[in-house]
Amino acid sequence: MAPPVVLNPRPGELILDLAAAPGSKTTQMSEMMEWRGTIVANDVSPSRINALSSNIQRMGCMNVVINRADGRRIHRIYGEIFDRVLLDAPCSSIGQVRRSWEALKRWNQNLVERISVLQRDLAIAAYKALKPGGLMVYSTCTFDPEENELVVQSLVNRGAEVVKFDIPGLKTREGLVEWEGVKLDDSLAYTRRIYPHLNDTEGFYIALLRKVPI
Ligand SMILES: C[S@@+](CC[C@H](N)C(=O)[O-])C[C@H]1O[C@@H](n2cnc3c(N)ncnc32)[C@H](O)[C@@H]1O
Repeated sequence: MAPPVVLNPRPGELILDLAAAPGSKTTQMSEMMEWRGTIVANDVSPSRINALSSNIQRMGCMNVVINRADGRRIHRIYGEIFDRVLLDAPCSSIGQVRRSWEALKRWNQNLVERISVLQRDLAIAAYKALKPGGLMVYSTCTFDPEENELVVQSLVNRGAEVVKFDIPGLKTREGLVEWEGVKLDDSLAYTRRIYPHLNDTEGFYIALLRKVPI
């Protein structure tokens, strides 16, 4: 999957996967790290943590610690210690419609507005948990700018730097730099939108950010 490829966790590092269950990206990152270093795999949902736990055991991921906490508090628990953070955020999931019609039935503007508040709070907590100079990926499987570029803009407003990246072999589109008459930071163009028709996949949004040392 693309978000771990963009985050690129290295052997020996300390990684936070803030919304980790059921663990598809945790297990991918564990292998990328050659099972060295540590991943703190956090989620708030006990039932989804069961799936996370069994996937981690099934895949033999010896460098993963499971944590159950509301991700909005994570920086208060750990402080600013992580080399890299993945926030694969809960979202309205409109990018999954070609796989599940249910996503479209569930989608409405109220859901987007409600979930974007949670996403922004999770993103701020994830950013705070990074070491100065550390890298963070924010990703969703949806297209609503309120859940994507506007969340990233809230981090830019706190001093985050948006980092340019490419995903070899994948066609992508630039992130939006304007929405409903509101101008966003030009660097939001470095974030990537992956539309289903581009690569015959589900839809995704990915941003790579650096915590600028103060
Ligand atoms: C898109 S899913 C994550 C998928 C996962 N990264 C994977 O690749 O398997 C979003 C997750 O966010 C979790 N979540 C929702 N609210 C949360 C919160 N306040 N703190 C931590 N996790 C939360 C949900 O339980 C869900 O498992």
